[in-house]
Amino acid sequence: GDTLGTAAAEKGRYFGAAVAGHHLGEADYTGTLNREFNSATAENEMKWETIEPSRGQFDYGPGDRIVDHARGQGMDVRGHTLVWHSQLPGWVNGLGGNDLRSAMNHHITQIMQNYTGRVSHWDVVNEAFQDGGSGARRDSVFQQRLGDGYIEEAFRTARAADPDATLCYNDYNTDGVNAKSDAVYRMVADFKQRGVPIDRVGFQSHFNSQSPVPSDYRANLQRFADLGVEVQITELDIEGSGDAQANNYRTVVDTCLAVDACTGITVWGVTDKYSWRSQGTPLLFDDNYQKKPAYHATLAALNS
Ligand code: G3I
Repeated sequence: GDTLGTAAAEKGRYFGAAVAGHHLGEADYTGTLNREFNSATAENEMKWETIEPSRGQFDYGPGDRIVDHARGQGMDVRGHTLVWHSQLPGWVNGLGGNDLRSAMNHHITQIMQNYTGRVSHWDVVNEAFQDGGSGARRDSVFQQRLGDGYIEEAFRTARAADPDATLCYNDYNTDGVNAKSDAVYRMVADFKQRGVPIDRVGFQSHFNSQSPVPSDYRANLQRFADLGVEVQITELDIEGSGDAQANNYRTVVDTCLAVDACTGITVWGVTDKYSWRSQGTPLLFDDNYQKKPAYHATLAALNS
C-alpha cells in the first residue's frame, strides 16, 4: 500500500488518527486525513463535558461533525470515551452514589443508542487505574461513590445499549509489563472468567524519554491477547525526531504486526502542528503536512 491506511488494510488492520473537528475546514489537514487514514477517533468531541454538558441534555453536534466526515470517507469510527475522570462537567462531581450510578448508565445508553450503526467501537472506561506501583484504582468520582464495581457495570450497560458494538478498556503507561498493566490484566482476566462483556484492551502508547517504547511491549500485548481480547494501539505518539523517532515508530508497528490479535493502530493526531503536546513533534506529519522520517518508517514497516 502507498498510504498508511491501505498498507495496514493489506495486513488486516486499520491505521487511524485522532481528529479535531475544528480543523476539518483546513484543506491540508483534511486532505492528509482522507488520504492516509482509515479510522478516526474524536480527540475531544465525545467526552462527557462536550456531549452531556448539563444532565440529560445531549449535544451530538461536535461528535456528528467527525462521524459524518469519517463515514463519508469510508473510515471506521472509535468512540472516545464514555466513562473517564477527566473532562467531566461539574454537575457529575456533585452527584451522590445512586444518582451518579443512574447518570453513568444513562450517559452510556443514550450515547451508544444515538450512534448505533454509525459508531460501533467504544472506549467504555478510560484510565481507571493509578500510576505508580500500587496497582490501585484511580481515586475518581466513580471509584469514590460507586466502588470497584463501576467498571463492570459500565461494560454491562454498554453491551445492553448496543449489543453489536465492540467494547474497549483503554489506558496509558500499561504498554509494558508493570504494576499498572498487571492490575488491568487481573481485571480483564476476571471479566473474561465471569463473563463480563469486554472485547478489547487499548494501549494508548504515549511515548517519550521518561516513558520509552518498552522492551516487553510485544509480550505484554500478547498476554492480554491470550486472555481472549483484541488489543489495539489507541493513542500513539512518540516524542523526538529524525531516525530515533522513526526507529521507535517502526518498533511499534512491528510489535502490532507480530501479535495476531492486534487489530489496529491510531496515532493521536494528524500533524505535529496540533498535537496535544504543544511544544512537541510526536506525530508522522510535520507542521507543514510533510511526511517525516517516522512516516516513511511506519509505512515501510506496514508494508514489510
Ligand atoms: O474547548 C476549550 C475551548 O473552549 C477553550 O477556548 C480552550 C482554551 O484552552 O480550551 C478548550 O479545551 C481544551 C480541549 O483540549 C479542546 O481543545 C482543553 O483546554 C484541553 O485541556 C484539552 O486537551 C485534551 C486532553 O485530552 C484533555 O485531557 C487534548 O486535546 C486531548 O488530546 C487529550 O487526549 C487524551 C485522551 O483523551 C485520553 N488519553 C490521554 C490523551 C492525551 O492527554
